[in-house]
Amino acid sequence: MNPEFLRGLCYIAASILFVFGLKMLSSPTTARKGNIISSIGMLIAILTALTAMTEIKWIWIISGACIGSAVGVLAAQLVKMTSMPQMVSLFNGFGGLASLLVGWSEFHGKWATNDAINLFTIVAILLTILTGGVTFSGSLVAYGKLSGTITGKPVLYKGRNIINAVIMITVVVLGILFCIQKLDQLDTAGLRNIYILLTSIIILTLIIGVLATIGIGGADMPVIICLLNSYSGLAACAAGFVINNNVMIVAGSLVGASGIILTNIMCKSMNRSLANVLFSGFGSATSTGSGAYQGEVKSLSVEDAYLILEAAHNVVFVPGYGMAAAQAQHVVRELGELLAANGAEVKYCIHPVAGRMPGHMNVLLAEANVPYELLVEPQDVNPTMEIVDVAVVIGANDVVNPAAREDKSSPLWGMPIIDVDHARTCIVLKRSMNPGFAGVNNPLFFKENTRMLFGDAKASIASLVSEFRS
Ligand code: TAP
Repeated sequence: MNPEFLRGLCYIAASILFVFGLKMLSSPTTARKGNIISSIGMLIAILTALTAMTEIKWIWIISGACIGSAVGVLAAQLVKMTSMPQMVSLFNGFGGLASLLVGWSEFHGKWATNDAINLFTIVAILLTILTGGVTFSGSLVAYGKLSGTITGKPVLYKGRNIINAVIMITVVVLGILFCIQKLDQLDTAGLRNIYILLTSIIILTLIIGVLATIGIGGADMPVIICLLNSYSGLAACAAGFVINNNVMIVAGSLVGASGIILTNIMCKSMNRSLANVLFSGFGSATSTGSGAYQGEVKSLSVEDAYLILEAAHNVVFVPGYGMAAAQAQHVVRELGELLAANGAEVKYCIHPVAGRMPGHMNVLLAEANVPYELLVEPQDVNPTMEIVDVAVVIGANDVVNPAAREDKSSPLWGMPIIDVDHARTCIVLKRSMNPGFAGVNNPLFFKENTRMLFGDAKASIASLVSEFRS
């Protein structure tokens, strides 16, 4: 059979595995299988691409594969669950850098030999370099912000939008100049100039990535990481056009589309537009809503919380960032099991943006072996919240803030929340009266049916577990 035809078939098989793998990632029950299926697709794609290469130095391929695999395995084993967003950010960044290098090396090959490049390929090279460069430098800044090496606060300065616009316009002008050059008709000086032009575009692109990300608050970084993930897919897709590789085009488009869908889901869950996330400098503002939430805060002891839970017929746990910070997921599962053994119906309600990364709470609860069937969506629990005996809020704040429903002046106004205030009793576990990520006051803490259990979430839940066991 014609090897080219065979390669085409293998690429189609790899693309089908990517699509099925991606589909399976949308449910926790099938996600692991989906990961393996996508990996097999990638292996087929890489091996097929290698068979197409005529001049190949295996030493480079084998060394790269060994080093890359070793880094991947170590990272997967050593990186803590709470550091996953940083790791994803680095992976995106390196994906962008890889695409940038593909575009650059393709151009370099033609430039060095004074070869002609058609307009389509030169535009594809430019797009690969632009998206790859922005993804690379933007992801490094996102990594720095999430890991604390760069301030998590949005870095805002006067005229930043104008400066960004000027740089972008310059890149567009330089890009047009780059695309209209005819390499095969240039003399040595002309060739040198176009090389300088491309280097300038790369430098400006890297600057755009930094400036666009530095103005965004650390806690908005998960949204930006999804967006950068989408860009890394688009960069790979453009690189696929550059080197005429169909499977790269398909895989890049899948990553690009899924990244933008996830970005959109997160923005909707926060009731914010993408433009607001990108340009508002959220996290630097001091607005906390009307601030008129006053009244008696009723705290309770572990013993009192135990008595309430012991008498409950149905309990909904609502985890948030504080559960991740306290690493309380294992004791939460233990408490859930004890409540179930006591006859209560136990559910875990997860808000889409609870925590600091997409699926943060799902990952933690899965790690603690909480059965998937106990996880419920806010839209399924909210309508029946009035008949829930106890809602236990574990280190969640913004995602249960009723100001989103009740206070038009609140920055959270309109954000879909979990209506824990409608439960018969709501027990909130946190260490203080401090606000959550959005810096917004929470009227939930002053409601008639709310009881505050102050302290580290893990310590409080562990004490409740001891009460149940004693
Ligand atoms: P937050 O509103 O950030 O509140 C977390 C709460 O946990 C804090 O009020 C804190 O109160 C408490 N806490 C921290 N450490 C604790 C510990 N050791 N023990 C007990 N409590 C502890 O969290 P959330 O409700 O999960 O909301 C997430 C926020 O992040 C939302 O505003 C969301 O828009 C934003 N965000 C999320 C994402 C994704 S993808 N998840 C993306 C972008 C933005 P104390 O300090 O008083 O203990």
